Amino acid sequence: ASANLRELLLSRIRDVPDYPKPGVVFKDITPLLADPVAFNALVDALAEMCARHGATKVVGLEARGFILAAPAAARAGLGFVPVRKAGKLPGPTLTQSYELEYGTAQIEVHADAMTDGDRVLVIDDVLATGGTAEASLELVRRCGATVAGVAVMLELGFLGGRQRLAPSLGGAPLEAL
Ligand code: PRP
Repeated sequence: ASANLRELLLSRIRDVPDYPKPGVVFKDITPLLADPVAFNALVDALAEMCARHGATKVVGLEARGFILAAPAAARAGLGFVPVRKAGKLPGPTLTQSYELEYGTAQIEVHADAMTDGDRVLVIDDVLATGGTAEASLELVRRCGATVAGVAVMLELGFLGGRQRLAPSLGGAPLEAL
């Protein structure tokens, strides 16, 4: 992202200390979403990534990823595919488990939502440990589609998500605005 865009986005993300639990600083993107100039610039930048990486489809990760991925897909002239938390899609679905700090979680996608002709860009708001994005790339791969890349607004570099994601990316780009 350009320095100007980066500054604009950072200026609209609010740090909330001790949420959701003591010691965690939550990155709240709602001020950014409420600012039409910043939100529009963000969607433009994500749509530009779709074009630059030759995507044919956009995957968004529930729930905050939907807010960014759906308008970016529409602006890029591409279809949008929701990856949802387990039990929300009517099916038939593919399910992928991934590790949380305590226990595991599952995400799902419709099995026919992507095919071997697709190049898929995965969009989410935040890359933290990378577990969610890694599981979504596994779903893309299991559908037979090609990973065009992962685009996030904010990368929390100290959590090592980029390193965790590298094998699943298989050389495809991870871009953080
Ligand atoms: C957040 C965020 C990413 C994910 C990043 O979603 O929107 O999807 O966590 O964390 P990770 O890199 O450690 O997997 P969350 O699960 O809080 O769901 P929400 O978007 O529904 O609030």
